[in-house]
Amino acid sequence: MRTYDATAVPHTLAPIVSALRAAGCVFAEDEAQLLVAEAPDSEALAEWVDLRVSGMPLEHILGWADFCGERIAVDPGVFVPRRRTELLVHQAICLLPDRVSSPPPIVVDLCCGSGAVGTVIARLYPEAELHSADIDPAAVNCARRNVDAVGGRVYQGDLFAALPPGLQGRVRILAVNAPYVPTEAIKTMPPEARLYESRAALDGGDDGLDFHRRVAAEALKWLLPEGHLLIETSGQQSGRTAGIVAGAGFTVRTVHSDGLDGTVVVGAPLCGKRSRWVPGRRAPSY
Ligand SMILES: C[S@@+](CC[C@H](N)C(=O)[O-])C[C@H]1O[C@@H](n2cnc3c(N)ncnc32)[C@H](O)[C@@H]1O
Repeated sequence: MRTYDATAVPHTLAPIVSALRAAGCVFAEDEAQLLVAEAPDSEALAEWVDLRVSGMPLEHILGWADFCGERIAVDPGVFVPRRRTELLVHQAICLLPDRVSSPPPIVVDLCCGSGAVGTVIARLYPEAELHSADIDPAAVNCARRNVDAVGGRVYQGDLFAALPPGLQGRVRILAVNAPYVPTEAIKTMPPEARLYESRAALDGGDDGLDFHRRVAAEALKWLLPEGHLLIETSGQQSGRTAGIVAGAGFTVRTVHSDGLDGTVVVGAPLCGKRSRWVPGRRAPSY
């Protein structure tokens, strides 16, 4: 194993950058700086560089991810929160009441993974009452570390079955980044995702939309009439996700951010209004 002197940063950085670049890391310099800054000693640094060169995601090595400018703990095997998902957080914050209301607005982060989405919403809107849930015990353990710190609760189970029934009809924001990769497309994903994140975090079924159907079918039962369902999807799948949400009794709009490369379908309970979703309509740009 190579060793690097973590105290001699300028001399250490160059060989690490070269090693990372040769391994195909696009942001080799930034990553090298982070590894040097975070490694407790030179032995750990050498081990971390080897892990990164072998393809392990940087966030799993460091034990945290930068998400919306916040450090989110990420354990091995747990889905690394992506930059595109910051759009889901932005949209949720925009839909929370301007003023502190009583009772506090309830936010549910379903399929929470590390708990990143709910944790950042609660940091930006501390009055919110946060409930996060995931089926994977490793994700739930990881989410507890993030969500406990902002005063939220984490549950384990299959979608809504994980939540306390007392939340039915009371949820203001239902934020969902569920798996949406079509099963066949998983093999084309980068090795960082395929090899280091659980298949259950990626696989959305034949067309990738199984979870969107299941969530949309049950969401009305949990939301307040003035609540919102927000589902992250891909640009390609957004028309179909919007159709599913509209078909479940919501008025729908699709938000896209070129900068974040993120797409979110936002549904508001119809409550007698006609759906504004038109099949094939282009998503407005964010
Ligand atoms: C794409 S990851 C997103 C994680 C997190 N929301 C984020 O944005 O970082 C999907 C998550 O859904 C969880 N999941 C898969 N099937 C589930 C189910 N039936 N019920 C609840 N969570 C599920 C996975 O364990 C994984 O953590």
